[in-house]
Amino acid sequence: MPVEVIAIASDHGGFDFKELFKADLKNYGYEVLDLGCYDNTSVDYPNYANNMAEAILDGNAMRGVLVCGSGIGISISANRHKHIRAALVHNTLTAKLCREHNNANVLVLGGRTTDIKVAKDCLRVFLDTGFEGGRHQDRIDIIS
Ligand code: RB5
Repeated sequence: MPVEVIAIASDHGGFDFKELFKADLKNYGYEVLDLGCYDNTSVDYPNYANNMAEAILDGNAMRGVLVCGSGIGISISANRHKHIRAALVHNTLTAKLCREHNNANVLVLGGRTTDIKVAKDCLRVFLDTGFEGGRHQDRIDIIS
């Protein structure tokens, strides 16, 4: 079976989490597509949300992870793109529900608002949880 590619991007507020997540993703057996940023220098988070939207639209990854300081700005930016369902989560329950009910294709975390252990657990749950379909698909169709 081909290895799934997970795209990942952050601004400076999420950079440290991004680097930690990259190591986790590789340990879990995924290929990682790093869309920046590449150090702690201050950058504009919408550009990294746009990088994610483009990577998914182009088929370079099916799913992705975004991180900024709060997770708010980068999730607002990502959700401007019609093919993106980006879910800002703060615990494993919302990480699970965003997959089961919302078929989220992008997980969003706040690098300054979420404990790193919780964030790592959210990543694992997001990766391992499937979409339930059915009535939830009907609702996603309404969004689209
Ligand atoms: C950057 O300072 C910060 O504003 C950004 O990471 C994010 O929290 C925006 O929503």
